Amino acid sequence: MSNTARHPRQILVTSALPYANGSIHLGHLLEYIQTDIWVRFQKSRGHQCYYVCADDAHGTAIMLRAEQEGISSEALIERVSREHQADFATFGVAFDNYHSTHSEENRYFSELIYTRLRDKGHIATRDIEQMYDPVKGLFLADRFIKGTCPKCRTADQYGDNCEACGATYTPAELIDPVSAISGATPEVRSSTHFFFKLPDFADFLKQWTRGGHVQSQISNKLQEWFESGLNEWDISRDAPYFGFEIPDAPGKYFYVWLDAPIGYLASFKNLCEREGIDFDAYWRADSDAEVYHFIGKDIVYFHALFWPAMLEGAEFRTPTAVNCHGFVTVNGAKMSKSRGTFIKAATYANYLNPEYLRYYFAAKLTSRVDDLDLNLDDFSARVNSDLVGKVVNIASRCAGFVKKLGGGKLSAHCTEPELVAHFIAAGDEIAEQYEAREFGRAMRLVMELADQANTYIAEQEPWVLAKQEGQEQQVLDICSVGINLFRQLMVYLAPVVPAMAEGAREFMKLQSLDWESRHDILLGHEIAKFKPLMTRIESDRIDAMIEASKEDLVEEQKLKDAPKGPLADAPIADEIAFDDFIKVDLRIARIAKADYVEGADKLLKLTLDLGGETRTVFSGIRAAYAPEALEGRLTVMVANLAPRKMRFGVSEGMVLASANDEGIYLLSPDAGAEPGQRVT
Ligand code: 2FM
Ligand code: ZN
Repeated sequence: MSNTARHPRQILVTSALPYANGSIHLGHLLEYIQTDIWVRFQKSRGHQCYYVCADDAHGTAIMLRAEQEGISSEALIERVSREHQADFATFGVAFDNYHSTHSEENRYFSELIYTRLRDKGHIATRDIEQMYDPVKGLFLADRFIKGTCPKCRTADQYGDNCEACGATYTPAELIDPVSAISGATPEVRSSTHFFFKLPDFADFLKQWTRGGHVQSQISNKLQEWFESGLNEWDISRDAPYFGFEIPDAPGKYFYVWLDAPIGYLASFKNLCEREGIDFDAYWRADSDAEVYHFIGKDIVYFHALFWPAMLEGAEFRTPTAVNCHGFVTVNGAKMSKSRGTFIKAATYANYLNPEYLRYYFAAKLTSRVDDLDLNLDDFSARVNSDLVGKVVNIASRCAGFVKKLGGGKLSAHCTEPELVAHFIAAGDEIAEQYEAREFGRAMRLVMELADQANTYIAEQEPWVLAKQEGQEQQVLDICSVGINLFRQLMVYLAPVVPAMAEGAREFMKLQSLDWESRHDILLGHEIAKFKPLMTRIESDRIDAMIEASKEDLVEEQKLKDAPKGPLADAPIADEIAFDDFIKVDLRIARIAKADYVEGADKLLKLTLDLGGETRTVFSGIRAAYAPEALEGRLTVMVANLAPRKMRFGVSEGMVLASANDEGIYLLSPDAGAEPGQRVT
């Protein structure tokens, strides 16, 4: 459609800013690859599209990590930024700008947005009580406090919830709390905090979130949050803190999550200054440019509530859309360090071509929020069959004959104008799927075309004709059609596999593989010598990558305070009478449904079928299991435990699991057990 180029849209796109204290892994890459594909597609269509990102550099965790390494926070974020950018480049993620939230532009916009909100009365201050580490001289976030669970008495639990029994509580309720940083006993201290008055924006947000700016799954979730009421948001932290000091509030710093999304503006501003782009054309309140944020489902609250409210209150435009994706699972389960499926970007790239992953993610991505499973067998089967077996195969079958019979030049005429026209026309529907972030559908359409191209070549049998005398022109005609079809396919695949597309562009000696370029049919056109554009995945490379990932994390894991299971290192408990044991009603249960629990990063909500009766149980097993992997599975539950009210709902029993530093192990009966049967 040639009018796309005549009416270019102005589009700004972001991915979430990665924290500056950890490596990029496959979970991150889903988002950056998804965003990069969409951006490359928009650029291919001739739109003015900018893709910006930055490291999320502030906060206590980064400050403590630097301290632990004996370097300054600035030195840490500098080093990590270089690592992150190298990883992104390896995976073909092509930002127009990569900046840092620890930058002058970000300080400027954080102060500007804050003072505008304050001057309009949207900031409140009040004193709050918090745990304080008297040795480190630091207020402690819940995750930096450990102690004994007040419910089940398991030692060494974090300040907000118990990994053994799933109970949630405040750090003040912990028995014998200690600072996880210094080991000191924390004190309760009061200090003044600054709050963003989110409820001031309730009406605006209700309208905004129903205005087509978020996916329907997200909009439904947001309605639940509205129903439970919006709270004021604590946006300040006390010194010492690595961040920006709040204007006119010495010793008070902006909480990392306040200045993180503002980092989108800062990175774009940095790009605008460098390249002479009009920043205000994108960000003024009445801008008709488009702004899209790609994020994971765990940070919706920040992007679909706080962020639009901050922008609205500070008289900036709000996002056109917040596009949310699910999590990556590997072989049906949450990425696991001990199974070697917690794979860092750099480790993957040591063993496998990054474009395999880009293609696989694209082939499985939809516009929805669902999780995406990287099944390693399916991964190699699909890449080998689609990219290598179907697409590259077309070029490799045709190139030799063009070289031999046409001296490297394609036929001067096209013998299959309808077939080529069909491939060109298919670009409109493929473009619609890309635009709608339905990449899986786009890939299916492309592979259907690849099948048609292969069928055409197979039916024409140029290799048979080539052996007959006087058929040279016919063979060249067939292979020239094949190369033209291959060119169409590479236009459609270029956003997904840019390095392979670049190789194909060089092979076909083309100026560009932009969407529009597909309209020119290649006649009498010279092509270069064919080089393999992609090779098959060898399964031993996958195995080696998994082994390397296990090794990668051994050291890291030792340093980490690995979760302690209910029985880990504990002595055998005091003897009980048989009558006591028999009081515990253990039953076989079938996990009918498993869901993540918003705001609880350790819990899964399980719907258990007891053969007629259904129970809801919140269980602290999220670290080891993806919900989909549990559905249908049998386990054992305590069926007569008194219901417990938790922050997220009532838990009606408990499933049995063991745990150690490596993971969590849910109990399962042998095959044949029936839901509801008693276990003795
Ligand atoms: O969740 C995270 O990894 C955050 N660092 C994302 C920040 S996104 C944006 F708000 F900066
Ligand atoms: Zn507990």
